[in-house]
Amino acid sequence: MEKSASVSLLISSLGNLPAMPVVAQKVLSMIRNPKSNMAEIAELLSLDQSLAVLVLRWANSAYYGLRHPVTTINQAVVVLGQQAIRNVILASTVATMMDRPVEGYGLEKGDLWQHSIAVAGAAREIAKDKGYEIAEEAYTAGLLADIGKLALETLLRGIDLSSPEWQGKSFEDLEEQFFGVDHAYLGAELARRWNLPARLMDAIEHHHDPQDSKEGRSLAYAVHLADYSIMAMGIGLGRDGLQYELDSSAVDFYEFNDDKIGELIDVIPNFIESSSAMIRAINIPNA
Ligand SMILES: [Fe+2]
Repeated sequence: MEKSASVSLLISSLGNLPAMPVVAQKVLSMIRNPKSNMAEIAELLSLDQSLAVLVLRWANSAYYGLRHPVTTINQAVVVLGQQAIRNVILASTVATMMDRPVEGYGLEKGDLWQHSIAVAGAAREIAKDKGYEIAEEAYTAGLLADIGKLALETLLRGIDLSSPEWQGKSFEDLEEQFFGVDHAYLGAELARRWNLPARLMDAIEHHHDPQDSKEGRSLAYAVHLADYSIMAMGIGLGRDGLQYELDSSAVDFYEFNDDKIGELIDVIPNFIESSSAMIRAINIPNA
């Protein structure tokens, strides 16, 4: 990636964010290792009571539609698979990071988290016809799509956005002009530092311009449509909610229409509530 000097500087402003719990870090690195197996992952998760409880609740959540609840970590790990376990861990980490007002974007405490978990859930719904794996990947990319805002927002606070010069412009224009990178690019850089796969970085980087995706557009399209739909539903809007251009090729790719938005409207509010309740009910200690 070029622009590395300014990106490093901006990423360093993410340095005050809470660290990822040690067991969570170890599980993520185990998931990256093709030689590790599910039994080892289950054993490691069992060492952290908070994560173990969260994984169990996640496996028993409505999305996975189990007829009989699972009661052990081993069963939960088998039900979820490695990608969904990664999602549980990232969701709990991101919830801690995002649990504050993001004033530069006009977001109240909780707004960015709500928006991000909603985009994650919607991206997974949109992509699920393409298969379980891609749906879980879409969830991860959706969850992290706007995380770069955390690095830029303190810098944006000093800018008078009511000035006529900014009327009709999106936050992406503003970010590019002031910092040389936008929040999508920074989010991808953070994903790289967390050693997430290139496909996910690409979808995060191109969630506003999915046609420029270089890793196969299905993920970037799903996150883009999810982001648009969640904006249209008015969830976590902040100041830039009304300046979002919908990419028509994403619409074509997923045959996205009003019925599909209707389905999201039916499921997403409950999904936000249950995910938030699951994550807030546990108290994951930081490293
Ligand atoms: Fe975004």
